[in-house]
Formats: sequence, structure tokens, C-alpha cells
Amino acid sequence: MSDEEPYWLGRASLEQQRLIKQHYVWTKTIGYLLHPSIASNLPENARIADIGTGTGIWLTDMAKASPPTHHFDGYDISDAQFLPADSLPSNVSLSLGDFKKPFPAALHGTYDVVNIRLIIISMGRGVWESTLRNVLTLLKPGGAIQWTEGNFLVARGFRGAAPASTGGHWLSRAQAQMNNTLVNRFGFNFPDFTQLYADAGLERVEEDVLSTDRLPEQRPDFTEIGSGAVLGALKNLAGAGGDGCWDEAKVEECREKARVDAESGAYLRWDIHVTVGFLAAPMSVT
Ligand SMILES: C[S@@+](CC[C@H](N)C(=O)[O-])C[C@H]1O[C@@H](n2cnc3c(N)ncnc32)[C@H](O)[C@@H]1O
Repeated sequence: MSDEEPYWLGRASLEQQRLIKQHYVWTKTIGYLLHPSIASNLPENARIADIGTGTGIWLTDMAKASPPTHHFDGYDISDAQFLPADSLPSNVSLSLGDFKKPFPAALHGTYDVVNIRLIIISMGRGVWESTLRNVLTLLKPGGAIQWTEGNFLVARGFRGAAPASTGGHWLSRAQAQMNNTLVNRFGFNFPDFTQLYADAGLERVEEDVLSTDRLPEQRPDFTEIGSGAVLGALKNLAGAGGDGCWDEAKVEECREKARVDAESGAYLRWDIHVTVGFLAAPMSVT
């Protein structure tokens, strides 16, 4: 994706609410905030960074579940969605930071954990590698990274359990339209995270892949969050125009038909990948 492209999900307060709801829905299906292989081995004074933090909700929840001696810093290119500073736990701070540019030298080697979640819309071929290299500069030797993404390239609608459920055709159509635009216009792709981490020299790599329909009761929530993001982005793209974009009338027609699909019990499904890895630990001198 080029630096000049706007951020197609937008940052209106509706998107802030979607991000917060998304956090709780994703966390429930994933089953943890921080992968057990990282969480089980944190030092007492752990420093944890969240890159592309959005609202800061992941850090805020982490802080509530962690010892007060841990410290949490969130970075985002925009502060438009940050939770109000006075609502944050005292050991959480949110600041501006661009993961595509080198981080200030003072931050290099200062974190035990770097978390990234759902920045795929700003990625593209080659950008995964450079972003990973950039965020790894923040880690202490032996530090860990957790990167969580949805593979929306495999997202599509499915028939639900209700006898009257549609096949989710319009949920699939909206997603396919968005995916075609992302692939053709932005060079969107989904990386092989295990290989990406191995190429960056990370150790003890684990890729935890979950299906969004793992908990059947969450299917409507994933459908609302996923189709909300897709149709919101298609509407923003319609406003900007360009080859192959739907106009606003087409987006609204699809939104209504996708709503009928979802109401009938059909649902949108994709894969979530949580990939963790560790920098080499310093050699212990005996
Ligand atoms: C879909 S939101 C996810 C927010 C958060 N990680 C979460 O899971 O709730 C993606 C975030 O990435 C941020 N972002 C996009 N490009 C960025 C960049 N180059 N540097 C830092 N943040 C960026 C956006 O501003 C947005 O807040």
C-alpha cells in the first residue's frame, strides 16, 4: 500500500466502537490476550508495547489482568481513536508512532513484548517483512512478539444452522468485492507467518490458527464486525472513486441484502492467525 493512500477503514466514532467490540469478540474466540508461551515467562517489571494500538483497548485489558509492576505503551499513527487518557490504567500510556518508520533510538531494545493486531489493511507485498524488522528493533534480547491477523482472503458467507438460512451469498459478494480491490489496488496478500518469522531469525515460533466459527454463538458477532468493516470500507472507496469501485447505491444495496442474509442465520467466516516468536536470548556466562 502506498504512503499516499488514505486509511480506508476510517476513524469515525462508529469505527472506534467497532474496534472495541471486535476486541472482546476476537479475545473470546482466541481464548487469551497474550499467548501462554509468552505470558508464562514475563519478568516482574515487564514492558509491553502495542503497535497500531487503535483505541488502546488490548493494552487496557492486559493491564487489568497483569501485576501493577508491568508497564504498557501503545503507539499509533493517529490518536483519533485513543481511549480518553483519564480512563486508562496508570501504567498505560498511548502515543503517536508510525510502524513504517524507524522508531526513536531511545526505544530500541526496551520492550519484553511487542504486540500487533489487525494492521493487515496497511500491509502489502514486501511491507510485512520491513514492518516486522522495524518492530523487532523495540525488543530486548530474548523478547517476544505476538502478531494477530485475520486472513480475510479466505472470508466468505456460509449457510447457518436455521432451516430458513440463506447461503450468505451477499456476505460473500461484499467480501469478494473488497478483496479484489485490496489485491488489485493495494497488492494485498496474507503472508506465511511461520516463514516470515523464521526469515527474521525468530526462535520458538508458533502459529495458532483459529476459525471465527470456533464458538457457534459468536457467529453473528463476527458477521456484524466483518461485514461492517467491509461495507464501511467499500463506501469510503465509492466516495473516492476509481477503477472497479462500486458506487454508493451499489454498496447500500449490498448492505441491505447482506443484512437479510445475516438475519436469516447465514454468517461470515475467516481464519485468525496468532503468531508468536522470540528473539535469541543473550548467552548466559557461567
Ligand atoms: C484495524 S485497527 C486495529 C487497532 C488495534 N490494533 C486493535 O486490534 O484493536 C488498525 C490501526 O492501525 C493504525 N495504523 C495504520 N497504519 C499505521 C502506521 N503506519 N503506524 C502506526 N499505526 C498505523 C490505524 O491508525 C489503526 O488504529
